[in-house]
Amino acid sequence: MRVIVGITGGIAAYKAPLLARLLVKAGHEVQCVATSHALEFVTPLTLETVSGRRLYSDLFSPANDHSTEHISLKDWGDAMVVAPATANIIGKLASGIGDDALSTLLLSFSGKPLFVAPAMNTQMWVHPAVQRNVSYLRSTGVNIIEPASGQLACGATGTGRMADPEEIADFMRRTLKQPKPLASRRVLVTAGPTYERIDAVRFIGNYSSGKMGFAIAETLAAHGAEVELVTGPTALGIAHPHVHRTDVESAREMFDAATALFPSCNAAILSAAVADYRPDHAADHKLKKQGDEGMTLHLVQNPDILATLGTMKQEGQTLVGFALETDNELANAQRKLERKNLDFIVLNSLKDAGAGFGVDTNRVTIISRDGAEGEGDTYTTPLLSKREVAEVIVNRCIEGAKGLER
Ligand code: CTP
Repeated sequence: MRVIVGITGGIAAYKAPLLARLLVKAGHEVQCVATSHALEFVTPLTLETVSGRRLYSDLFSPANDHSTEHISLKDWGDAMVVAPATANIIGKLASGIGDDALSTLLLSFSGKPLFVAPAMNTQMWVHPAVQRNVSYLRSTGVNIIEPASGQLACGATGTGRMADPEEIADFMRRTLKQPKPLASRRVLVTAGPTYERIDAVRFIGNYSSGKMGFAIAETLAAHGAEVELVTGPTALGIAHPHVHRTDVESAREMFDAATALFPSCNAAILSAAVADYRPDHAADHKLKKQGDEGMTLHLVQNPDILATLGTMKQEGQTLVGFALETDNELANAQRKLERKNLDFIVLNSLKDAGAGFGVDTNRVTIISRDGAEGEGDTYTTPLLSKREVAEVIVNRCIEGAKGLER
């Protein structure tokens, strides 16, 4: 495989030759691309010696074969890693800025595996702008190799130290050879809340942020699936090329989108918090106060999307629902699993601190219809990040689902 190693200007750049060397030893052809700041820490001669190829670092160098060298390099490379990746290069990539050899190459390097190993001081790493950029890159399918914690070059102790070259090479090896178990599978995901209109300016909604559903969509895409994400109103963004997003507002709009997409999908994971009821009439103007009297809204029931997909389900399709219960949790979830003809139900507990709406963590119990002995298997996760919970849910579905098996 041909691997491009991008190096930016952090002290961890001194480890980049070791990474290049490990990749060469693993049998890859390696091309180093360095920013001018990186070359304050590591010499061109070192990088050229370990890679056996001329370094590319200057967009306009007379040594370049032509002025579009970054474009020919992106065709040359099968995979690319940036190690170390400073806050600066992460910010540039997340914002679409290309102003030197490495950043222009990164912008043109799409559709192939890209790894980014951040390295910076802890304060910089936890800065909201850096975290936002890292989340955004992750949502576009970039493999982020998390920095480790420990003693940093500046003397402080905290998170921000670049993962060791051995770990980076190992992470790349595992990811690149990992079969994409969901390649050529299409999965429908619903996420977020629904808004049910009362009048021109008001609605009935709920606290769902959409984080769990978006994490599931990203995880499915990372495993190779084409994802149809139908989402209620949320501030979240997702830009993975394999995630096709449909924005809806009400339960009925979500119903229409989900029932139209389900027949062409191998599986559906319905994590949206759908309003069970809507006002029977939505005024198209703003309702005025009526004297001192209270106000009564008459509500009618919304269609149950999950139950409807349960009746539409064909042999070979997998259907996963969520349940939010406060009493008799397991028994209620089990009943819902059967009543709605599901293969799995993911039980959310509101009782755990750190689980549920708005937060970044969750703890769930996954109940499957067909366990080892024909009985439902039950598995409870520890308190994990929503991304990790998404990984567990997707992996359990891959292992046990007819619609997703290889
Ligand atoms: N759901 C749905 N359409 C609805 C209501 C719920 O698709 N109109 C889905 C949710 O996306 C979730 C599951 O049903 O996957 C469970 O929702 P929950 O509110 O826990 O259960 P309900 O079926 O509404 O039952 P109840 O309110 O009686 O607990």
